[in-house]
Order: sequence, then C-alpha cells, then structure tokens
Amino acid sequence: MSRWRGLLVEYGEWLDLRGVDQPVTLLEGNTPLILAERLSERLGATVYLKIEGANPTGSFKDRGMTMAISKAKAAGAQTVVCGSTGNTSAAAAAFAAKAGMACVVLVPEGKIALGKLAQAIMYGAEVVQIRGNFDRALSLAREITQHLPITIVNSINPDRIEGQKTGAYELVDALGHAPDILSIPVGNAGNITAYWRGFTQYHFAGRATSLPKMWGFQAAGAAPIVLGHRVDDPETVATAIRIGNPASWVPALLAIDESHGAIRAVTDDEILSAWSWLAHEEGVFCEPASAASVAGLLKFGVPAETTVVAVLTGNGLKDPDTAVKSASAPVVLDSTIDALMEHLAR
Ligand code: F0G
Repeated sequence: MSRWRGLLVEYGEWLDLRGVDQPVTLLEGNTPLILAERLSERLGATVYLKIEGANPTGSFKDRGMTMAISKAKAAGAQTVVCGSTGNTSAAAAAFAAKAGMACVVLVPEGKIALGKLAQAIMYGAEVVQIRGNFDRALSLAREITQHLPITIVNSINPDRIEGQKTGAYELVDALGHAPDILSIPVGNAGNITAYWRGFTQYHFAGRATSLPKMWGFQAAGAAPIVLGHRVDDPETVATAIRIGNPASWVPALLAIDESHGAIRAVTDDEILSAWSWLAHEEGVFCEPASAASVAGLLKFGVPAETTVVAVLTGNGLKDPDTAVKSASAPVVLDSTIDALMEHLAR
C-alpha cells in the first residue's frame, strides 16, 4: 500500500497549483467514509458519513488551508490572517506553523469552542478575541490587509475553495460514483460551494456520470440564506456556523439551484439530538455544527433507496464543554468492588 502524500500531491492534476513547487502539507485528506447502518435503516436509504474530523487539525478546513498556505508561501507572504468561528483559525495556525509563517486569528470573544481556542494558541498564532461576532471578525481581517502586508486565508481567498474541492473528489473516488444527495452544514457557505465545484469538475471530466443534489443546512438562529436576508445577531449552540452574512452566499445559491438541491434550517434542539444520536448509535463523535447535516436528513427525510453522504465537518473533541453540559455528570463511587457491583446491578 502506498503512503498518502497529502492533497496537493494526490490531487495535483485537478487543482490550480501554479507557482507552488513545495506544498505545505500535514498529510491532510483521505478521511474515512463510513457506512452508517442505523441511520440508513432510519432513513430507508444508503447513508455514508464523511469523517472530516479525522483531518490533522480535526476539521475539513485543512483541505483549503494546505492550498491557501502553499500559495501564500510561494508568493512570498510572511503573515496570514483570518476571522474565524474556530476551525479556520486552528487550520491556519497549524499550516502557518508548518510553513514557518506568522498567523493572526480574529475570533468572537466567548463564542469559540474551547478545543479550537487551545489549538490556535498551541500552534503559536497571535490570537485576538474581538467584541463582536464572526461577521465582524471577517470584515476586520479583510480590512487589515489594506493596511499591513498580510494575506487573508478565509474562503474569500479562492485558494481555500480550490483545496476544499478535494472532498468531492474523495467521495466519488471512494464510491465509484457521486451520491444522489450531499448533505452539508452551511455557515460562511464556502464548503458547499467547493463541493459543488469539485463534483461538476469531476463530472465534466467523465469521472462521475451523475451529479448530486446539494442539500445545505443552516442553524435556525443563523439562517440568512434560508431567510433571504442578513441576520445581524446570529445565535446557535453550533458556534462553528454562527454566521449572519455568509461570504459565499451567491455561489452557494448557485450550487443549490444548479443541482436542484435545497437549503433549509434545523433548530438547535434538532442539531443536538442528531449529534448525540450519532455518537450513541454510529460511534461517531462530531461537533454540533457538523450534526446539522444529519439533523436535516432526519427532519426532512430522503427519497427511498437513494445514496446519501452527510459531511461531518469537524471533530467532537473540539467542543468538550457542549458535550459535558449536554448530559448529567458521571456517577462517582467509593473505590470498592461492592460499590461498583451494586451500581451496575441497578
Ligand atoms: N462545520 C464546521 C465544523 C465549521 O467549522 C464550519 C465553518 C462549517 C461547518 C461551515 O462551513 O463556512 O464553509 O459554510 N467554520 C468557519 C470557521 C466559519 O471559521 O472555522 P462553511
């Protein structure tokens, strides 16, 4: 079995790598695609989970970041910046560290999962918490590039979307065809845009005979695309997608339109219930935002006997607070066999 060499080497012929001789890679990609038996049974379809939490920094952002940082480095950049709900900042900080570049991350104060904050700090980024939400963080990140020689690595940087197309390639390569439905959480709307581009590119090249319907799901309290207007005060337990004014709004609409798909909302309760169900029943612990994709499938159902892929965008370990808060605290016993036997007999 040959060794996986990272996305820019494995999928180089499908990506715009002009100027890059030396990819900056943490051997991202090649993530598991798991057949979800119980979910398939519940939905009357064949449902797979794409485990993006298995990437080196624990989310799909590594796909875009290997590309964005490789390009930035090749162009001579020394510092990168992003606004983030947490995962982009973790990935930017890690790949910048690998590249020997500096990284500034702007995150909404108090609204980023603990593990993501820990990552950005540990990878050595300059972490700035701002009094404001993601949309403000992103606009500040854009603005700082007007004043300082810094490269932005949010998905408004086209290299990010370019790298994230590889998620679609991997699905087609693993299944041998495109799924009928691709279910995906939507925040800033870069990933749904990237998957659609990847699928259409593969289709055009004859690698896939069909195209999936793109089903995007936003959190009900942060659902600007569903509502058709900006949300000034987005709120959801799924902090990763707590976004009121997505940067890739227009291309996301195009993906939905062209694929005859849909974008719909799921409530926080629906998200949390799908999230714990996945851990209990499928053995997959993703982060709350990721579970929006499965919450949507459970809420709206799918046509019988279709093949469906739900993209689980990030690792559950990133957000231990929400996990621990969602259940009652584990029992504490005296350290005796009698106490243990008595407890387990109940
Ligand atoms: N799932 C997770 C775990 C995310 O972190 C994000 C976005 C999304 C889904 C939505 O993807 O923005 O491409 O529509 N996180 C960004 C961040 C905003 O800063 O980490 P999208």
